[in-house]
Amino acid sequence: MKKMVFSVIAAMCVFGFTACGSDNSSSSAPSETTAQTEAAQQETLTEKTDEMTEAEQSDEEKTEPKKNEEQSQNTNVNESKTADTVVVYFSATGTTKEVAERIANVTDADIFEITPAEPYDDADLDWHDDNSRTTIEMNDPDCRPEIANDTVQLEDYSTVYIGYPIWWGDAPRIMSTFVESHSFEGMTVIPFCTSGSSPIGKSGENLASQANGGNWLEGERLDASISESEIQDWISEMN
Ligand SMILES: Cc1cc2nc3c(=O)[nH]c(=O)nc-3n(C[C@H](O)[C@H](O)[C@H](O)COP(=O)(O)O)c2cc1C
Repeated sequence: MKKMVFSVIAAMCVFGFTACGSDNSSSSAPSETTAQTEAAQQETLTEKTDEMTEAEQSDEEKTEPKKNEEQSQNTNVNESKTADTVVVYFSATGTTKEVAERIANVTDADIFEITPAEPYDDADLDWHDDNSRTTIEMNDPDCRPEIANDTVQLEDYSTVYIGYPIWWGDAPRIMSTFVESHSFEGMTVIPFCTSGSSPIGKSGENLASQANGGNWLEGERLDASISESEIQDWISEMN
């Protein structure tokens, strides 16, 4: 674990927190990065890394993405707009997608997949690699990966379930791109995540703080194998 912390911090030093995909031109220019903020970011990363316990890592290896084909299909059925509820999700390897589909079935909701403009391949998702795209993105809090298909009209809904995998203890940066691009005013927002074993932690709270409005509930980590009746129980507990 220490080796991992050291490696990630070393990668942060090499990249200077500036990289976020190939076309990043975000506000965090290297010249603006003070020693103080570097120290704060290193502390945050160390905390996140600590969340990846040894047990989590072995779990992780079981669920670690091997394939990436799931993200190629956009399951956007928003055009029909028949429901009060929408399930919006990002899923790199299909786990969150399956849970999102079960939630949509249970709640009779529309469903919308957030698709990255530049899909994540296996190398991008390699969290063992200090220089992988996801490691670089998650080291940069200002990183906002572009969304390919952000056509969902949230104003048509009163309840939004928002789902994502946990990456380094947090929501993937593309979720920040999404929540900053929409108004959640007047809506109930329910974050959910899947993960190797990390809890939802502050990821929902972080997204709430970046979003425009909305009544954000605490949210929950849902097991990949959660059944529809367990989802129903979870929803009932929230009401
Ligand atoms: C870059 C990366 C970082 C990850 N970080 C964590 C983590 O901090 N804690 C954890 O339990 N699982 C972590 N995981 C595992 C994913 O959260 C888990 O496999 C998730 O269910 C994948 O969802 P998806 O198939 O919808 O993409 C990570 C996976 C990747 C690719």
